[in-house]
Amino acid sequence: MTHFPKVTKAVIPAAGLGTRFLPATKAVAKEILPIIDVPAIQFIVEEALTAGIKDILIITGKGKQEIEDHFDANFSLEKNLKSKGKDKLLELATKTSDLNIHYTRQQYPKGLGDAVLHAQTFVGEDPFLLLLGDDITRGENLSQSLINLYAEYGKTTIAGVRVNEDKAKRYGMLDIETTNQDHIFNIKGLIEKPQGEAPSNLAAAGRYILKPEIFPILESLKPGSTGEIELTDALIDYNQNHEILAYEYPGEWYEVGEAYGMLIASIIFALDHPEVKDEFIPYIKKLAESL
Ligand code: UTP
Repeated sequence: MTHFPKVTKAVIPAAGLGTRFLPATKAVAKEILPIIDVPAIQFIVEEALTAGIKDILIITGKGKQEIEDHFDANFSLEKNLKSKGKDKLLELATKTSDLNIHYTRQQYPKGLGDAVLHAQTFVGEDPFLLLLGDDITRGENLSQSLINLYAEYGKTTIAGVRVNEDKAKRYGMLDIETTNQDHIFNIKGLIEKPQGEAPSNLAAAGRYILKPEIFPILESLKPGSTGEIELTDALIDYNQNHEILAYEYPGEWYEVGEAYGMLIASIIFALDHPEVKDEFIPYIKKLAESL
């Protein structure tokens, strides 16, 4: 039985500079870079909508107009495809034309924490789903799992994935203790990009259920060691007085905010992409044999 309000709002921060993807991101928003033919942010939006989210806020910034254009109608393109009878392409082009997406701008890229703070008015008194555009999932709908957990426990929840020890310094790492349920942990602490030993090998996977109580904490934060206002710092503070759960995602997780992760995701998604798989699978097999 559901005791807690259903999470119906999602926030997608997309105002970062994307420096790990330069030079591509000099003139193109990294969120628009495609995995084969679908922009990364479309995967994120579809994950949220499939999980039952009704309202989405995307936090954009300078040079990110393409994101709004992508989720808008393109009248001349639609007219052109219609007149040529290209129905399948028309369907793809209009799939993202009429979604309930709101936008706000982060004026300076002062960090993820600052970006989230821009969602305060949109969120109001409600819990919300936060999805980071760098993280693409495949398999179980991770947002849906977090929303279900919130309905049961009503707690701030962070999705995690297992990473190799040598990669821990790139992620927000979770200090966890087991509960009596598989895949669910209590969070004892968090550390952003640990330089020494990480407390576990569970890394924050870019999906969170947050509550509005996080906003006053974010407001009070000063920039951390990175010079940015870190969401992790706010969660550490929040965790002093509130329980936070971690959910270990059993599906596949790809980090597409940098070139290597994007390459791997593209290969994996190509293996079952209806337009390319028949040509790609024999090609990649032959390539692998030749190495
Ligand atoms: P990242 O640190 O991965 O994004 O932030 P970035 O800053 O764009 O990337 P690099 O490190 O320079 O390559 C995680 C998420 O938070 C958003 C990003 O767009 C990304 O989705 N973000 C980050 C903001 O919206 N605003 C910021 O000031 C920083």
